Amino acid sequence: MIFSLVERAAADPILGLTDAFKADKRANKVNLGVGIYKDESGQTPILKSVKAAEAKLLAEESSKSYLGMEGVLAYNKAVQGLLFGENHNVIQHNRVFTAQAPGGTGSLRVAAEFVMRHTSSRTIWVSNPTWANHQNIFGSAGLEVKQYRYYKAESHGLDFEAMLSDLAAANAGDLVLLHGCCHNPTGIDLNSMQWQQVADLCLEKALVPLFDFAYQGFGEGVDEDAQGLRLVANTVPELMVANSFSKNFGLYNERIGAITVVGNNETQASNSFSQIKSTIRALYSNPPAHGGLIVSTILADNELKALWLSELQEMRERIAQMRALFVQSLKDYGVTQDFSFISEQNGMFSFSGLSKTQVGRLRDEFGVYIVGSGRISVAGMTKTNMPVICKAIAAVL
Ligand code: LMR
Repeated sequence: MIFSLVERAAADPILGLTDAFKADKRANKVNLGVGIYKDESGQTPILKSVKAAEAKLLAEESSKSYLGMEGVLAYNKAVQGLLFGENHNVIQHNRVFTAQAPGGTGSLRVAAEFVMRHTSSRTIWVSNPTWANHQNIFGSAGLEVKQYRYYKAESHGLDFEAMLSDLAAANAGDLVLLHGCCHNPTGIDLNSMQWQQVADLCLEKALVPLFDFAYQGFGEGVDEDAQGLRLVANTVPELMVANSFSKNFGLYNERIGAITVVGNNETQASNSFSQIKSTIRALYSNPPAHGGLIVSTILADNELKALWLSELQEMRERIAQMRALFVQSLKDYGVTQDFSFISEQNGMFSFSGLSKTQVGRLRDEFGVYIVGSGRISVAGMTKTNMPVICKAIAAVL
């Protein structure tokens, strides 16, 4: 008997909330835990561009034969275009290679396994705070996870000096996890000057950036949100990107992302990519096709791409409206504490500063579910659930 001694796993800090939410019988419960976009009617819609691409695929797809280890080739090229723009020097110099992978999590895990098996790097630095799954993914692959300071609770802002000083203590070859945009959970991003300073530090200390890029287009726009990545890629010789299309294409359950490696020259990048492929072979052999085909079909068709961009803009604008309404509604429900800092945050989340006790009361007394760190998914707010949320927050403050 080997299972009798297995201990029960702790609930996942984000996905575990959805389990608890589903089991909650209260009628006006609200789930603002996991980052899932909802429209004004509280639904997570399938984008029209996605439906159109799927109709096309249904009519035209002629085989379900295996993909190569790297997935759909047209998809991988399209990913590079979105990440770097068409004319970036890493593309011009053939220094960039991409493999389709299952979602952001799968892409990060492939990156971590590749680093552990084929490089001498053993440490990754993540921001404090960061996405709750980072420690889990990198730790499972065997990397040592260290933290750099990022957020200053008193000012509800970035602690950039502390970030630089912690990263200055990293060793050559260490990985540095950077959030491409819409930092999860704080919503606080670097400006261009700060990106350049981080890039210069990585170059000077020979640190290797690993971008987690899951919200492209949810901040200011597809190209605007990639400015940090493009600038860093202009400065450092090597980096990796794990990106996800769960949010910006609404393809959550298709598990579609990619792992991209940029090397110092074509040979080094291509050698690394060959090992990324062998890592994929060992993990899941080759990716499922559907998500990659949807994204590549949309991006290869001017009309579908324009439709997607307008749908992405609509999502981005609705979230921004909810953010403004949230700040206003808190005031309307009698909250005197200043929450205006929430307006400065980018992307799907608001890092509220609520304590663990307050988060627990929101859930137990009011059926409002947010992550233990105080992270609230603004993308799950609607005009209808806003009063429930704000009254509950006013009551626990
Ligand atoms: C989140 O942070 O809520 C999302 O990235 C979903 C997840 O897998 O945690």
